[in-house]
Amino acid sequence: MAEKHSSKGIMWATIIVAIILIAIIFPLSVKKTTSAADSAGGNDEAEVRIQPVAKFELAKAAPATSGAPKDGATVFNTVCGACHNTGAAGAPKLDDKGAWAPRLATGKEALYKSAIGGKNAMPPKGGSSLSDEEIKGAVDYMLSKVK
Ligand code: HEC
Repeated sequence: MAEKHSSKGIMWATIIVAIILIAIIFPLSVKKTTSAADSAGGNDEAEVRIQPVAKFELAKAAPATSGAPKDGATVFNTVCGACHNTGAAGAPKLDDKGAWAPRLATGKEALYKSAIGGKNAMPPKGGSSLSDEEIKGAVDYMLSKVK
């Protein structure tokens, strides 16, 4: 009789453990499905969590939409230098007087215009969202180096 009793005890213990496990695992799996459903609606927590990173990247790619205007050298070094220091995408290099001579001949206003509005592989404002004045400052800085 005692043996039967203890095997009954084991059975109950097993059932209780199983219930506890289910109680722990079930809410977890329910949570998972809910957040998956949220993300389908474009309202996922993860989206919120990555937002600051995305904002930071944007801020890096397009410096200075706010704050004091940047001077020509700063603008050149943060935005334009990526192409104009290396000659990337066929950009006239800062120290390449030969490449600049025919451009200088078109006049400063024309160069301002291409720098602000873009020209072929040269993106408008170098891909930044700086003000026209800041871009002109950068052009002035570039021209002061090639003259
Ligand atoms: C993504 C690369 C890239 C960046 C960034 C860039 N440029 Fe350029 N830039 C070019 C290329 C390529 C050309 C040559 C365009 C051509 O003549 O076909 C060019 C040409 C120019 C010219 C000569 C335009 C002309 O009419 O001949 C000026 C001035 C100029 N860039 C200024 C700037 C300034 C100022 C910045 C920063 C605000 C800048 N660029 C950023 C690629 C770039």
